[in-house]
Amino acid sequence: MEFVSDTPKDEAGNENGQEEPSGGIGCCGYILYALSMLTIIITFPFSLCLCIKVVQEYERAVIFRLGRLLSGGAKGPGLFFIIPCMDSYTKVDLRTVSFDVPPQEVLTRDSVTVAVDAVVYYRVKNATMSITNVEDANRSTRLLAATTLRNVLGTKNLSEILSDRENISHLMQTSLDEATDPWGVKVERVEVKDVRLPVQLQRAMAAEAEASREARAKVIAAEGEQKASKSLKEAADIMIQSPAALQLRYLQTLNTISAEKNSTIIFPLPIDMLSVFMKK
Ligand SMILES: *[C@@H]1O[C@H](CO)[C@@H](O)[C@H](O)[C@H]1NC(C)=O
Ligand SMILES: *[C@@H]1O[C@H](CO)[C@@H](O)[C@H](O)[C@H]1NC(C)=O
Ligand SMILES: *[C@@H]1O[C@H](CO)[C@@H](O)[C@H](O)[C@H]1NC(C)=O
Ligand SMILES: *[C@@H]1O[C@H](CO)[C@@H](O)[C@H](O)[C@H]1NC(C)=O
Ligand SMILES: *[C@@H]1O[C@H](CO)[C@@H](O)[C@H](O)[C@H]1NC(C)=O
Repeated sequence: MEFVSDTPKDEAGNENGQEEPSGGIGCCGYILYALSMLTIIITFPFSLCLCIKVVQEYERAVIFRLGRLLSGGAKGPGLFFIIPCMDSYTKVDLRTVSFDVPPQEVLTRDSVTVAVDAVVYYRVKNATMSITNVEDANRSTRLLAATTLRNVLGTKNLSEILSDRENISHLMQTSLDEATDPWGVKVERVEVKDVRLPVQLQRAMAAEAEASREARAKVIAAEGEQKASKSLKEAADIMIQSPAALQLRYLQTLNTISAEKNSTIIFPLPIDMLSVFMKK
């Protein structure tokens, strides 16, 4: 945010400075200009090698004539002319550049240290501004991206960082873009790549998840047992009404046993004998 408030002042200063001596390059400048032109004309076919410059489709050239920005903005793409000795120019690449923000150790709002890294995509939107308003647009954007990442994540708690990456990316993109606007840089995308937790915390979280899963399993098993016992009681209630039913069930069990384990020998015991013991 500080960057935003600082730069417009600088810009205003620049513009005021430019407007005062708007007469141009001055009388010495004109003499130099005439001499240069004369030299170009005298050495005509060969001087073209020095005068004609080419920039690619995706590049622009910002030209300074005797230290002053040439009116008409950045030149290109294609051919443009410069006057040797008087002009200096800088090529600016307008293609989108991507770079990795190195892993940042961030303290979240709930006091957990996490290591976060991100990818930022940006491009130069206005070549003139990226040369005149900032010394090194690339480096400044990179440094600012790292600080913005820390600032944005410092206001979130861990669960938000893990679950809400889209919002965090969006928030970072808007605040970065706002800050780089005076530099003629457009930040197109920010992606949070990886959130690494400390190993101890990972273990604690795994243990917590396991415990909660186990607790749920136990509850489900207990509920099942409760239901089963109810059905069993109902069945027993019905069977007690006729003793023959119990006898039939007993025979059925024998049948099952003999089918499944035909090598086992069973001596059937009359169930009535058991009931005598049960009464005792
Ligand atoms: C770039 O910025 C300069 C200075 O603010 C402005 O005069 C020029 O029109 C801008 N160029 C484009 C393509 O927006
Ligand atoms: C920024 O980086 C890109 C690619 O790394 C390079 O082409 C461009 O010239 C750099 N711009 C400046 C102003 O250093
Ligand atoms: C994280 O922050 C949100 C709101 O900002 C809050 O609702 C939530 O309870 C917080 N979680 C923790 C674990 O502190
Ligand atoms: C995330 O974004 C959605 C929709 O854009 C919004 O409703 C939600 O409140 C945001 N969450 C946070 C924590 O800002
Ligand atoms: C016992 O059952 C198996 C298959 O379950 C069968 O192969 C075997 O012949 C049976 N034995 C007798 C004595 O019936």
